[in-house]
Amino acid sequence: MSGNRMLNKVAVITGGTSGIGYACACRFAAEGAKLVLADLFADKGAESVASLQAEYGADVIFVQTDVTSEAATEALGAATLAKFGRVDAVIAAAGIASGSATDEAQADADVDPEAGHVINKPLENWLKVLEVNLTGVMLTNKVMARLMIEGGVKGTIVNIASVAARRPLVGAADYCVSKAGVEMLTKVLSLELMPHEIRVNSIGPGFVETPMTANLRSENEGNMMAMGMTPMARYGKPVEIANTALFLSTDESSYYAGQILFPAGGMFTS
Ligand SMILES: NC(=O)c1ccc[n+]([C@@H]2O[C@H](COP(=O)([O-])OP(=O)(O)OC[C@H]3O[C@@H](n4cnc5c(N)ncnc54)[C@H](O)[C@@H]3O)[C@@H](O)[C@H]2O)c1
Repeated sequence: MSGNRMLNKVAVITGGTSGIGYACACRFAAEGAKLVLADLFADKGAESVASLQAEYGADVIFVQTDVTSEAATEALGAATLAKFGRVDAVIAAAGIASGSATDEAQADADVDPEAGHVINKPLENWLKVLEVNLTGVMLTNKVMARLMIEGGVKGTIVNIASVAARRPLVGAADYCVSKAGVEMLTKVLSLELMPHEIRVNSIGPGFVETPMTANLRSENEGNMMAMGMTPMARYGKPVEIANTALFLSTDESSYYAGQILFPAGGMFTS
């Protein structure tokens, strides 16, 4: 699929070198967007830039960014302005899973299924998930919204939450709370930014085939749990989430603000 739905729009995508963020980059590039990818690793950044240029002829830069740092997020804004002079669309997709907050937490979860329960969860793991998934999204929103206001841009912001914003997942209280926070942050910010005609919405994907779910998909028990929760009984493809992000980043969604859409294989139908 390709067209002009994002022609000459500048899109900043955090978590833009992997999974859902990278799928958004591809989908947006195919629709004519100029791209700023923000993520942790320079080598992955260079690789993503090269493939977007080769496949879509994209005008794209990578800015190494840790979204939990306000200074780094400000630097991302400055780099975006220096290269493209404005920001029209933001996708906040950087995030981590509950068990991956630290290597130790992942190893513990592999051995003891109750290691992630609230009564066992080390505070540092809880704080890390909240810091990346919630504070990181807030900082991205804060910096990019200010740039839009200063530039008089009536832009869009799309935050990647999760079905976990509404569905309690045993062993992942930190992740669920972070995503519920993203849903509420989106609502509050959408009202605060309404006078500036900046629209903020969020997406709550179901289980999607990305590196984040690689462990889950490789285990029988994980697969059964995920498919048991998903009426379509299949994983989502990253492009299916990117299509939703594209809709929320164009005027096709002009009457949406503060909403969450669930591309989730039929979850929440009953
Ligand atoms: N895959 C799923 O099933 C699923 C479901 C619901 C929601 N989500 C959410 O979608 C978003 C994208 O996840 P994904 O599945 O594409 O995972 P992914 O692991 O493929 O991509 C996440 C990206 O975020 C980056 N990142 C992590 N911490 C960062 C930081 N501090 N600063 C900057 N970048 C950072 C990682 O380097 C990685 O490139 C996440 O917010 C995730 O919680 C994923």
